[in-house]
Amino acid sequence: MYLGLDLGTSGVKAMLMDGEQRIIGSASGALDVDRPHPGWSEQDPADWIRAAEEAIARLRETHAQALAAVRGIGLSGQMHGATLLDEGDAVLRPCILWNDTRSFREAAALDGDPQFRALTGNIVFPGFTAPKLAWVRENEPEIFARVRWVLLPKDYLRLWLTGEHMSEMSDSAGTSWLETGKRKWSASLLAATHLEERQMPELVEGTDAAGTLRPELAARWGMGPGVVIAGGAGDNAASACGMGTVGEGQAFVSLGTSGVLFAANASYLPNPESAVHAFCHALPNTWHQMGVILSATDALNWHSGVTGRSAAELTSELGESLKAPGSVTFLPYLSGERTPHNDAAIRGVFAGLGHESSRAVLTQAVLEGVSFAIRDSLEALRAAGTKLKRVTAIGGGSRSRYWLSSIATALNLPVDLPADGDFGAAFGAARLGLIAATGADPAAVCTAPETAETIAPEASLVPAYEDAYQRYRRLYPAIKEAAL
Ligand code: XUL
Repeated sequence: MYLGLDLGTSGVKAMLMDGEQRIIGSASGALDVDRPHPGWSEQDPADWIRAAEEAIARLRETHAQALAAVRGIGLSGQMHGATLLDEGDAVLRPCILWNDTRSFREAAALDGDPQFRALTGNIVFPGFTAPKLAWVRENEPEIFARVRWVLLPKDYLRLWLTGEHMSEMSDSAGTSWLETGKRKWSASLLAATHLEERQMPELVEGTDAAGTLRPELAARWGMGPGVVIAGGAGDNAASACGMGTVGEGQAFVSLGTSGVLFAANASYLPNPESAVHAFCHALPNTWHQMGVILSATDALNWHSGVTGRSAAELTSELGESLKAPGSVTFLPYLSGERTPHNDAAIRGVFAGLGHESSRAVLTQAVLEGVSFAIRDSLEALRAAGTKLKRVTAIGGGSRSRYWLSSIATALNLPVDLPADGDFGAAFGAARLGLIAATGADPAAVCTAPETAETIAPEASLVPAYEDAYQRYRRLYPAIKEAAL
């Protein structure tokens, strides 16, 4: 039996999988995000442990026997967060999360140093870890002076699980301190942010063992000795392991809090100019590219909060069949945007409102806006040399048929829906746990699920969607100029 633990932004999910890769059960513990100032986004790492404990306790209520048989645990997590620990591993301040954009000035300054793009293959985005440390040094020097360890969120869970300071390549590629092509920390990038390699966790591949479960936790959960913890992966690479997106040409679109268009690559293919992320994959000798939009379901959830209707109610008001885009255009830049703009300051907009702009019209515009943002990522991946023929959809937003049809039509690509099951990050993490514990061949384990259904682009609406996309494209420079 294997356990996948995914530390997401809105909760921790624990999933049990057997040796035949059948999902036995799953449970979650919820998390909130603190937004003490505009553009800030933080969580207390103690809450991650509380949520993980809750998720595992819930699993125990229904699956105590299966849990007792766990041999390997895989970790997945929200990327880029800066978890700062002192000499005694005490947390120095709340974790600054992936969608926190306060460090945009520090990010621009680091990005101006050519060695960052040259060695990491990526723009230094404000959401990445290095500029956050530069912000802490500037604004909270007494905390910076006490930083003994910088850990990514899931690696803080590992510290709790194993007592070890370790990480793996896929998540570490999102720090701006990793030489992504060479899969090692860069002493000179660390030095550029006044840090040293001894403050970083030891690196392994995602499929390697990285610690064993502490005896007290094993006893509490009824597990035996020697449970292996896999290196694991950042949540996107972990989802890719769950989806079997590990070979050239395979891709998925993830509609979670953030939106991601992810493509696997057999080699390291950086192209920072198009604001594409080029990261290590969780499997050895494999890399991936992705376009990241900061608000996907987050945009719909914001609309839901404003209108006082649940996301499901809002999307059901649209019905199932796709409509041509109307006069209202929504730009989903509620937390700024990464791909393609790398702009932390930009904010969202509804353009083209009229008396007839009902709640449903606005919902439609929100879904279209996110679809167009994903189309921007597709164009960025194309500019980076990746050709996609189809994509598979995952994440909470993929429960909306309307949204899937809108994405297929905006991308003008077929969107595959995996057969019933949950093939997301927790499942991918459980697969990594299996590989680390048994030495199984990663390619044989990380296979793609059956496709239940393919959502084709709505051919009659492709031209209208194309026009609306071009209107969407024109709005960004216009609102940028208006905001200056
Ligand atoms: C990826 C990114 C997000 C988070 C969400 O670069 O910032 O997808 O990993 O958890």
